[in-house]
Parts: sequence; structure tokens; C-alpha cells
Amino acid sequence: MNKFSKDILYDEDAYYMSCPEVVANYLAELLKSYKTAVELCSAIAITVCALAKHMDKVYGVEIDSKRIEMAKNNAKLYGVSDKVEFIQGDVLDTNLLKNIKASVAVLDPDWSVDKNTPKIHSNSLANTTPNAIELFNKVKENITSNLVIRVSKNVSFNDLKELGVCHVYNIIYDGRIRFKYALYLDNIKEYKEIDTDLGDLSYL
Ligand SMILES: C[S@@+](CC[C@H](N)C(=O)[O-])C[C@H]1O[C@@H](n2cnc3c(N)ncnc32)[C@H](O)[C@@H]1O
Repeated sequence: MNKFSKDILYDEDAYYMSCPEVVANYLAELLKSYKTAVELCSAIAITVCALAKHMDKVYGVEIDSKRIEMAKNNAKLYGVSDKVEFIQGDVLDTNLLKNIKASVAVLDPDWSVDKNTPKIHSNSLANTTPNAIELFNKVKENITSNLVIRVSKNVSFNDLKELGVCHVYNIIYDGRIRFKYALYLDNIKEYKEIDTDLGDLSYL
């Protein structure tokens, strides 16, 4: 068993940062009422492919051109090529964002504080690459007010609350919290923190 069910293309850094496929599928279930989406910082397209299984059209925006090529290959393996479109560029580029039509956006910045120590993750939304707060505000202004951010487990519920009313899912597997999804969706009216235990994924 592997982190992914298909024999996908990745580089070492992208493999480490990528969302495990089972967790991406869990998020896709939560968002399946939306028919169009964009993922900002889409890397090798694990989340894009999971969303595309349920939706009509999903965009992925990624700065690294090699990852864009891997993402296209991976979308073929997951059988969703006809529903996805990858854009190579900077997710903080307002002109790029303005041209994307999507009803929900998933933001997945890099949490490492320093590339030499990738396993040390930021506890601050402002200290991700790109800055998650700046990205959140630009996406909200230019694409949609339905947003999801994947953040390190070190980011507090209180900090996530500062961006708006949200449901925060603490993603747990193999007995400990791994990371968080914060959902800021138009139908969410009260703050909630939810522990989601996906069980034994020790094969990851
Ligand atoms: C955590 S990974 C994304 C993982 C992916 N979303 C998944 O589901 O597996 C973060 C990605 O953000 C990309 N990135 C960093 N800064 C960026 C920027 N300013 N614009 C676009 N992509 C960026 C990195 O190249 C990296 O591939």
C-alpha cells in the first residue's frame, strides 16, 4: 500500500506535502454539493482529482511547472482529465484569480517555515508560503466566499476563527492529529471544532 492508490508521478517534496488520497476523498465528500472548484497550490493534483470525482469542473493553480506536468499525468490516471484544468502561475496574482470561475476554493499553502527543515511546520497563518491570510483575502475578493484552508496542526482554532465563521476539522489518523481543514462556507453559521478520526492508515 502507498499514500496513493494509483502509480502517480511526484517529486520528493511534493510527496511529503501532499494530502493523503483518503483524506482528500473525505474533503471531497464534504464539498460535493458544489459543482465547480479551484484548488490554489495544487502540486501533483491529489485534492484536485478527489474533487473532480464529484464535480463538473475543477481548476488547479500551481507555481511549479514540473508539478503541473505531473498533475496532468495524474489526472489521467484518476480518470478525471476531462474535468480538470491546470494553470501555472502565482496564486497571489490578482489577474489570474479574477479569471477563475468556481463556487468553492481550497487553499493548500506550504507550511514549512524553512525548506531545510520541512518537517517543522508553521503555527501561524501568516508564515506559510504563500501567506495564507493574504491568499484567503484575495480569493474571497476575486473568486468566492466559500473557502477551505488546509493548515498545519500547529495553527490554533482561535487563529482560524479570526478569518470568519468556520468549522474546523482536526484530521486524525493512526492515533494523532495530522493537520486541520478550516471550512468557511456560506451555509456555516456557527463556530465548531470537529475531531475526524480516519482510523488506521499506517500504510501511509
Ligand atoms: C502543500 S503543497 C500542495 C499539496 C496539494 N494541494 C495536494 O492536495 O496534495 C503546496 C504547493 O504550493 C505551491 N506553491 C507555493 N507557493 C505558491 C504560489 N505563490 N503560487 C502557486 N503555488 C505555490 C508549491 O509549489 C507546492 O506544490
